[in-house]
Parts: sequence; C-alpha cells; structure tokens
Amino acid sequence: MKPFPVTGWRPDSWRGRETAQQPEYGEPGALEAALRELAALPPIVTSWEVESLRGSIAAAQRGEAFVLQGGDCAETFQECSSDIIVARLKVLLQMSLVLSYGLRKPIVRIGRMAGQYAKPRSQPLESRKEVSLPSFRGDLVNRESFTSGDREPDPQLLLRGYERAALTLNFVRSLVDGGFADLHHPENWNLDWVGHSPQSEAYEAIVDRIRRSLDFIEHSTGRDLSRLRRTHFYTSHEGLLLHYEQAQTRLLAHRGLWYNLTTHFPWIGMRTAQLDGGHVEFFRGVANPIGIKIGPAMTPEWLLELLRVLNPDNRAGRITLIHRMGSGRVGELLPPLIEAVRREGARVLWMCDPMHGNIETTANGRKTRRLERIEEELAQAFDAHAEAGTWLGGAHLELTGENVTECVGGARGLDEADLDKSYRTQVDPRLNYEQAMELAMLISQKAAS
Ligand code: PEP
Ligand code: CO
Repeated sequence: MKPFPVTGWRPDSWRGRETAQQPEYGEPGALEAALRELAALPPIVTSWEVESLRGSIAAAQRGEAFVLQGGDCAETFQECSSDIIVARLKVLLQMSLVLSYGLRKPIVRIGRMAGQYAKPRSQPLESRKEVSLPSFRGDLVNRESFTSGDREPDPQLLLRGYERAALTLNFVRSLVDGGFADLHHPENWNLDWVGHSPQSEAYEAIVDRIRRSLDFIEHSTGRDLSRLRRTHFYTSHEGLLLHYEQAQTRLLAHRGLWYNLTTHFPWIGMRTAQLDGGHVEFFRGVANPIGIKIGPAMTPEWLLELLRVLNPDNRAGRITLIHRMGSGRVGELLPPLIEAVRREGARVLWMCDPMHGNIETTANGRKTRRLERIEEELAQAFDAHAEAGTWLGGAHLELTGENVTECVGGARGLDEADLDKSYRTQVDPRLNYEQAMELAMLISQKAAS
C-alpha cells in the first residue's frame, strides 16, 4: 500500500502553501506540543461512518435523497450543554420529518456541530478607540473579550475544542441510539410553536399521518419498525484551522486512504477556496466527502479547476457544491456554473445555502437576515435548477432550536425592534425554531413540485 495515494500530498503539504485565515500563534513550541497531544487522542468519528455518509451523498447526487445540513454559525464552548444540544437535534429531526414526508425520499441529516468552533474574519485586527488587537476567530483559536491576553491565539484551545466536540457528539450519539428520533416518542415530535404559527396545523397533520401509517404497518406485520432502522446523524464544520484538521487526519491501512476524522463532512469556506492555497491542498488528500461554498465571485473556470484538483477521479459522493449567492442574484449567477459542471460531466451534489448571501445590518448596527430574502433565494435556486434540469438536493442553514430573535420576519412577524429581545449569536444571525420549521415547509413544497 502506498502511504500517500494522492501524488505529492502529505498531511502537512499545505504548510508549504499560502494559507488564508490562520491565526498567528506566538510560541511555536507550545503549538507543536498541543498538536502532538491532539494527534495522539482517539478520533471524533470513524471512517465507516464517513464512508456511509459518502454513500448517502452519492444517492442525493442521483436524486434519490435530500441532505439537510444545519446548526450554528459558530458553536461556543459555553453552549455545550444538554438543553441546547437537545433543542438543536430536535429541530433538525423535526425538519427532516417534514422534508421526508413532502419529498418521499430519505433525508440525510448533517449537523453544523461538534467542531464548528473556528470562524473566518474579514479583518485580521479589530480596533476599538486607539487599541488594535487580533480579531476573535472562534473559541478554537482565542477568546472573545477585548483584552490582549484573551485575543492572543492559544494552542491549548485546540484541545479544549476537541474535547467539546467529543462531548457533544457523545451526547448526540446516545440520544439517537436511545431512540430520540423514534416517532413513538411523541414528546420529541410535539411542537412548542403550536398555536403561534399558521404552519403548525400542517405539521401536526403530517406527524399524525406518519404515526398512523407506522402503527398500521406495525400492527399488521407484528414488527417494531423503530428497531429496523436507526437514524444516522452526521457532523460537519468548516475545515478552516488546518492545524486542527491535520492533527486528526489518519492513514487507514485497511482502506489505503487518509481520512480527516475530526468530522464526517468538512467544507471549504468561501474565503479559503484559492486554487493554490493551503485549504485546497489539504483537502485534496483526504477521502471524506467535502463541501465547497460558492459565492458570487466564483467563475466556471475556477470551479472546474477546483473539481479537477479535489476530485480527479470523479468519485461519487465526494463533492457537494453549496451555493450562497444572495436573493435576486442566484437566478443569474448559478446557471453558468451549472452548465460548466454539466459539460465537464462532474458528479456533484448541489446544495443551497440561502443564509450567507443575505446578511444586512440594521440602523442600530445589528447583523440580521430577513426570512423573506432567505425564502426567496431558496425558491429562486429551486427554479434555476428546475430550469437547468438538475436536482437541488440539499439545504444548508444556520439555525438553533431556541427562540432567539436574530433573523427578522416569519409567522410571528419579528421586526428590527424585536432583535434586542434575545440576540445571542457569536457571529451570524440564526433562524429560530419557528422560522426553521417554516423554512422546512417551504423546502418540502418546492423540492416536491
Ligand atoms: C459560514 O458558513 O458560516 C460561512 C462563513 O460561510 P461562507 O464561507 O459561505 O461565507
Ligand atoms: Co455563518
């Protein structure tokens, strides 16, 4: 077996490339010591799970499944708590129930969780009055409060992040294995939003119909369906901080391939997709399914080159293209990219992120998103794919299971004045529980039509 099946690649070959968005660690000895410790710890996920997800994404590429990817913009160490994890899992499962009912297809669930701790920033420094300090880059890198000590990148946080990711996934696995996603547990499917949203009746009716058909099959066959197929739940995060990703990347002898075992599904963000950059170099060598965010700056030539470098064998399930163009722009920007991919014959899963092209700032300086714009981008993306004859097989959302007030709009008509009530995000505004369910209804209608 060749230890490096991908030509010229090694887990650290990215270090020879210009690599965007990396923190500047002070003392190299402290970083290397933390990385050695991280590399010796067991992986967060296994290659079996990673391969099973690749198979499911391949099915979605063929139009046989739909992928729902959602979670926080930035997870925080502090919010690694049972209530918050349960609420996030619950909203994702409820959304996927609505989707599977509407689409009549399996839904592949991927959380933006258990490792989504590092954020790209537009400015390396943040200035307040006369003082400039390194920008806050997420809990995996430094601390949010504006003091020089807290903003100094701290390699020990790589270990704290690994531990939080493991704690989170351990709890998620126990919930899922213990039957949390089993329809026979009504407490997990009931809605706290009943009575507030015009959509709640439709949701109740769906749950009721599914439960009655399950009961019917179970009574007539004498089998407990919940034991037949346990739900899979996968994790993902932006593969931003390459020291962290590299430390948990391993050669699996029985497969002859390298896997990034920090997560099932890492993605390359918009700001780090340079062809000659460190991120593309790193991800070309690992066998995980990967996402690539594509925004308005993406050109057909750049995209095709990325596909050639990242998936030279055109492997099924390997590439998901997550477009985030902005409402009103997707109809014009997407078709040339779809056309280029089609001409090349490249296998990809198309997924819509209707969040990141629709950020605005209110008069009093709050970052927000309008549900209306998010819905428009989704609807326009479905139309663009329908026109091109391609399957839009996934949605990528920033959401939480809680009743935050970060995005405006939705059935309760949140407006800008409401944002102060419960605005808790560390970076981008997230959909609250109700808004996320409304979106699931919309996706289910658009994808089924
Ligand atoms: C994100 O997904 O939080 C993000 C930063 O997205 P993008 O790279 O698309 O801007
Ligand atoms: Co974000």
